[in-house]
Amino acid sequence: MTIVHRVLYPHAIADLDEYLARGGGKGLEVARKVEPLALIEELEASGLRGRGGAGFPTGTKWRTVVENASPARPTTVVVNGAEGEPGTFKDRTILRNDPYQVVEGALIAARAVAGASVIFALKRSFAEEVARLKQAIDEVVAAGWAQDVALEVFEGPNEYLYGEETALLETLDGRYPFPRIAPPFRRGVVEVVEDASDARSGSGLAAHVEMAGEGGSAAPPTLANNVETLANVPRIIARGADWFRTVGTEKSPGTIVCTVTGSTQRHGVAEVQMGTPLREVIEEIGGGVAGGRRIRAVLPGTAQGFIPENLLDTPVSYEGLAAIGSGLGSAGFIVYDDADDLTAVAAGVSRFLAVESCGQCTPCKQDGLQLAELMDKVCHSNAVEHDLETIRKRVSTVADGARCYLATQHHNVLASLLDQYAEDVEAHLSGTAEGVDAELIAELVDIDADRAIWDERHREKQPDWSYDEEYSGKVPAERFGEHRAPEALEE
Ligand SMILES: Cc1cc2nc3c(=O)[nH]c(=O)nc-3n(C[C@H](O)[C@H](O)[C@H](O)COP(=O)(O)O)c2cc1C
Ligand code: SF4
Repeated sequence: MTIVHRVLYPHAIADLDEYLARGGGKGLEVARKVEPLALIEELEASGLRGRGGAGFPTGTKWRTVVENASPARPTTVVVNGAEGEPGTFKDRTILRNDPYQVVEGALIAARAVAGASVIFALKRSFAEEVARLKQAIDEVVAAGWAQDVALEVFEGPNEYLYGEETALLETLDGRYPFPRIAPPFRRGVVEVVEDASDARSGSGLAAHVEMAGEGGSAAPPTLANNVETLANVPRIIARGADWFRTVGTEKSPGTIVCTVTGSTQRHGVAEVQMGTPLREVIEEIGGGVAGGRRIRAVLPGTAQGFIPENLLDTPVSYEGLAAIGSGLGSAGFIVYDDADDLTAVAAGVSRFLAVESCGQCTPCKQDGLQLAELMDKVCHSNAVEHDLETIRKRVSTVADGARCYLATQHHNVLASLLDQYAEDVEAHLSGTAEGVDAELIAELVDIDADRAIWDERHREKQPDWSYDEEYSGKVPAERFGEHRAPEALEE
């Protein structure tokens, strides 16, 4: 059986009573009886890996946070529910169906790392999920589950970067979603300004906490985990690591909640065992491609390049997708058939990433925007050979000195088009292929009646993150850089 139900039940759980009747709450019960370190050891034994995209081992992350606890201030647990990856709708589906397991997982995490508060970071636009979560928190608090932990729901902006962990911490701390230079682990939410004369501490640029790492700071670490990661925790603690490992692979134990959209008969979200072949996932969730067409390629979100049809038997696991030079990411698979124009798809990804880049790193924004412009020209069949040369050059420079992974994503997707589908690009250059508009690649707003609804408004979003008629020419880091307290980003 391909579809399984560990973190995603077939129907929505109505209230805490139903959650308890289905066996919920047992993980927290166990967690309260054992030493916090025993929880971390169980998670390490389970092999659970972060479901936010990078697949980092969760137990290792928790242990690092504990080992770097601040003697002065308590640790905060942050639940990353920003879900902005194009083609992904799994965290919102989990929150709609069962927010209780996410709250329980976060409370177990707080117990393991001695966290005094949990912040559930969602988006203002996720009205349904915010309401479900708030109801669950109210019930859980009333039931006495959170006596020594403060629970808060934070409603953040729509920007893609808000989901990037360090940018999310920036936003929680009252600044704009601009990523920090990645330290070995995270500090904040509470910024500790060590040098009051530092001009940047009063600016809207990323906080001066980049060097957080081994020793030397009073700032407490923050444990940030994805919604689906935490949804797995209660059962691992209640039933044990061996139970968790009864499905999945050695390196990717457990299940994964996948989103399938694009040219398939249906769009949807479902949970499968890690290691299930991608073709089977697409078939089971999407019902195969529509209209008797054949799959040509699959885009696993905007972080990695196209997966060609001949590699569709690859197991859906961290190691399986890495072995073909791709990645599992947040398991959102956008399917393209033999009538789809992959140049237009790549042009859409290029535009999305160039617009969403914050501009703290010049190549990411400037080369990114040039790439988006040239890719648009290519898919309209207006480009010449020299434009292709410039595209190749910019693909090789766009990620230079990048603070976060977004710039590498831009590189990955365009490099994959140029390497694997060069004939498609050539067809546009020679004029054999008709000019087309770039595909809309943006965040998903909903999946309704088996159809994905993409954020159409992204077509109007400017590279300065405004929705003005004209682009101001400023990058977001410049436009918002002087402001410490953000005015609301436009929705
Ligand atoms: C551009 C960008 C956007 C991201 N967006 C999200 C997101 O919306 N949700 C999420 O959980 N992780 C997102 N991530 C990954 C997070 O930075 C981080 O790896 C994750 O929250 C860690 O949680 P985990 O260990 O439980 O996976 C994003 C990363 C990048 C580079
Ligand atoms: S790589 Fe791009 S998105 Fe990331 S911090 Fe730099 S400019 Fe911003």
